[in-house]
Amino acid sequence: MKNYAIVLAAGKGTRMKTELPKCAFPILQKPMIEYIVENIEKSVVDEIVCVVGYKKEYIEELLGERVKYVFQDEQLGTGHAVKMAKDLLNKKQGTTVILLGDMPLVDKKVIDKVISYHNDKKNDLTVVTAEFDNPKGYGRIIRNEYGSIERIVEHKDCTKNQKTIKEINTGIYIVDNSLLYDAIDKIQINSRKGEYYLTDIVEIMKKDYIVDAFLLWDSPRVMGVNDLYTISLAEKHLRNDINKMHMINGVSIINPETVTIGHSVVIEENVIINPNTFITGNSVIKKGSIIGPNTEINCSIIHKNVTVKHSLVYDSEVFDNSLIGPFAHLRNGAVIGKNNRIGNFVEVKKSTTGDGTKAAHLAYIGDAVTGNNVNFGCGSITVNYDGVEKHQTIIGDDVFIGCNTNLVAPLKVGNKVFIAAGSTVTKNIPEGAFAIARNKQINKVDYAKNFIRPKDDN
Ligand code: UD1
Ligand code: CA
Repeated sequence: MKNYAIVLAAGKGTRMKTELPKCAFPILQKPMIEYIVENIEKSVVDEIVCVVGYKKEYIEELLGERVKYVFQDEQLGTGHAVKMAKDLLNKKQGTTVILLGDMPLVDKKVIDKVISYHNDKKNDLTVVTAEFDNPKGYGRIIRNEYGSIERIVEHKDCTKNQKTIKEINTGIYIVDNSLLYDAIDKIQINSRKGEYYLTDIVEIMKKDYIVDAFLLWDSPRVMGVNDLYTISLAEKHLRNDINKMHMINGVSIINPETVTIGHSVVIEENVIINPNTFITGNSVIKKGSIIGPNTEINCSIIHKNVTVKHSLVYDSEVFDNSLIGPFAHLRNGAVIGKNNRIGNFVEVKKSTTGDGTKAAHLAYIGDAVTGNNVNFGCGSITVNYDGVEKHQTIIGDDVFIGCNTNLVAPLKVGNKVFIAAGSTVTKNIPEGAFAIARNKQINKVDYAKNFIRPKDDN
């Protein structure tokens, strides 16, 4: 017999106070719904049905062909949402696990465990529960004097006494397919909320069938995400999971609470990540590199033994043994060669540098291709933009660019060129030339006194 999953993701997520449908909201750059679907895919479930409604195109775009969709036009509650899958699933023999799209921490192990519990006990309905010190907002599990589940009462419908119950409904249910939709059809509208509560199937099925509650111990994993605060709690768990995996693989992370690493990032062993560092997208960090503190790296490749500190690196690549920062900004396809030094307040955009190149302070290198051993003096700039178009600067090997030089593109600078400080270079410079492009200095002897006035004594 097959196992099916229904994931409820039709709600707006009013409590989030954002435009996106809640289940499409990203946590660590991955939409919430993808977490649960990924974990269901890894489990014993054969087929996934996703209930979509509010801004359904977002969810459909995210999940594509991975799931089947049913549409809930009006969000009339979790019971009504499950009913939407009736035509698709009620004639199929098997077991259905119902999950909520807002539980990103539930993993494959939990899903497999609760399904096998349900099967082993030969239950007709199993409700998965947990114990929370702060159960506010969750449906409470009411057990009878024999300890078996009687019903679920939503937080807002609880009496004062019921509010003290710590056992909560996780929102995961495992149920026999042939029985589910009869029970769903019997759910009455909740008069206070005007919704059909899925939780009512407990009382309905209890009359004729075996209904059981399975208390899970790894409780934080089943939390529901309803607002931006609970997003931050879920994010903390997911961040910890990723950091732990890297640390076990030989990455040293200092003060990991302050380090965020995305899901698709690859980090080799023997890397040190210092505090306040964000590494995201499909970034790769190779052996021996030291990243951070206070650094952002997105969609970039950092080769071996590179140091990047107090810097931003976006869509770029840095080759072996280079030093980036403090306060450097690499972006939009910057490719930094080996043994470079890109230092304080240097921005490199869409440019390639050869090996051994240095731009240690206050420089802008944009739309340039530079050779090996080029020295950009403090304040040197590739003037790449004429107000309409961007132009390229090509620089050969072993070039010395004096401080405060403007290289007005399009421009070619040959090998072994030396450019005097303060030059504004507008013409190509041939190999081996010394270029100077600034006004000659005049010293007028004994003339300064005309500008220096004695200071007022007061
Ligand atoms: C629900 C449960 C509560 C449980 C908690 C666990 C009910 C009535 N309450 O409450 O007992 O403790 O989850 O986190 O079931 N959705 C739809 N269509 C709808 C309404 C909701 O698809 O008409 C989807 C939402 O997109 C969401 C999920 O169902 O992903 C849960 O809805 P939500 O409003 O968050 O339920 P809770 O109030 O958290
Ligand atoms: Ca919820």
